[in-house]
Amino acid sequence: MAKQFDVAVIGGGPAGYVAAIRAGQLGFSVACIEQWKTPKGEASLGGTCLNVGCIPSKALLESSENYEKVTEKFADHGITVGKVEFDVARMIARKDSIVSKNTRGIEFLFRKNKVTWLKGHGKLAGKAEGGYKIDVSGDAGGSAAGSTAGSAAESITAKHVIIATGSKARHLPNVPVDNKIICDNEGALSLTAVPKKLGVIGAGVIGLELGSVWRRLGADVTVLEALPAFLGACDDAVAKEAWKIFTKEQHLKINLSVKIGDIVQAKNGVTVFYTDADSKAQRLECDRLIVSIGRIPNTDNLGLDSVGLKIDERGFIPVDGHCRTSAANIFAVGDVVRGPMLAHKGEEEGVMAAELIAGQAGHVNYDAIPWVIYTSPEIAWVGKTEQQLKADGVQYKVGSFPFSANGRALSQGEPQGFVKVLADARTDRILGVHVLHAHASEQIAEAVLAMEFMASSEDVARTCHAHPSLSEVMKEAMLGVDQRSIHI
Ligand code: NAI
Repeated sequence: MAKQFDVAVIGGGPAGYVAAIRAGQLGFSVACIEQWKTPKGEASLGGTCLNVGCIPSKALLESSENYEKVTEKFADHGITVGKVEFDVARMIARKDSIVSKNTRGIEFLFRKNKVTWLKGHGKLAGKAEGGYKIDVSGDAGGSAAGSTAGSAAESITAKHVIIATGSKARHLPNVPVDNKIICDNEGALSLTAVPKKLGVIGAGVIGLELGSVWRRLGADVTVLEALPAFLGACDDAVAKEAWKIFTKEQHLKINLSVKIGDIVQAKNGVTVFYTDADSKAQRLECDRLIVSIGRIPNTDNLGLDSVGLKIDERGFIPVDGHCRTSAANIFAVGDVVRGPMLAHKGEEEGVMAAELIAGQAGHVNYDAIPWVIYTSPEIAWVGKTEQQLKADGVQYKVGSFPFSANGRALSQGEPQGFVKVLADARTDRILGVHVLHAHASEQIAEAVLAMEFMASSEDVARTCHAHPSLSEVMKEAMLGVDQRSIHI
């Protein structure tokens, strides 16, 4: 007889594994079905984020930043170093070991919370007594994109199902990604040498983050972006300053309004034919090309039809504000549903789904989800941009404060950037906070917490912040909403 579980989670990335752990904590019997295999053929939890996304990219960002610090910033501190060399193989090995520590950590958490990991591809197979049947094909694996068919090695039943199958890189039509010469996020994190000339298609989060990694290690990077605006989702003030830093100081070549034509791959390089903003024909010759033009939800071979579910026109599984699908007791969370494709958004949804199954009041505040782009400096924000408030006809006040007026930032040699606060003109409630700084990813947390508690800018402005610390810039920007910053 098929094994029975209270909850089956399909997918073991941040949305799925967190849902499984929370369901385990709540006393349910839980199975998490995950098919991921590393290039060495080992089964692995953690999905894109841990295996080929957030964590490995941060490991490489740190390594390349350290290299740049030694070569370009130490002299200012009076530190002279001899010949500086780097070893890409060692950098990649360090990254791999960090990934493995993280993924093994989830295995430990599964054991701690009595979550059963079923290794293989999960496919819904209609209703069964007391819930749903799911086939798990044991021979699945190999690919991050995930959708391996295969004969059912095992079937289980579950009263509740949480679909958390994530997303895969979108590729250009007729441009095969081999992850050696033409790469998506996976290949771009495993290059074996620094390319002399690196092409990047798409100036989004992945393109800018990975473009920065390889630029810092010496690659000549050209980014080709279809849209006319740079970082259109960011507040205009941040996008403008970031553009200046990336193009003028860091010499990233970013071409906007391009139209990609043919891409011709040779043995050891690629030629990208495109038209530029003036509709002139251009070509980019590069040794390696990263294609980072967004991601698409993973729903292939998932058996959605068997439970009466259909995907929408963009490929997502439709859900309500609580991640319930139209099928009773089936939730869908993370990248496979609407909203930003961010690991932490998926995690919150996973917790919500598990708590709703337990009859608790699970909830996600979609207005307080932070965004971070891990460039140097980092870009982070939460809530509305100034251009959104203008378009919505909201009356607002602005407070802004530069890191160049903060003692700690100067001591650290990281004076670039600012905090910008947008507050409701009538109620003073914080509507959006935007940070451009080397450590923006950490500083945005204070703003997210303030927004979660519906704070006014005055609430934060009257909160004591440690001196000397970077956090003082947040306080000063909040004071700036009423023109009373002290240090400027
Ligand atoms: P993205 O949506 O951030 O950026 C893709 C860019 O490619 C856009 O600017 C788009 O206009 C451009 N583009 C699309 N088609 C094009 C074409 N044919 N020619 C030229 N440009 C084209 O997607 P990206 O960078 O691939 O990242 C995928 C997802 O992963 C994002 O949704 C993001 O949320 C998530 N992610 C988040 C990270 C973070 O939170 N720091 C890090 C990495 C990924």
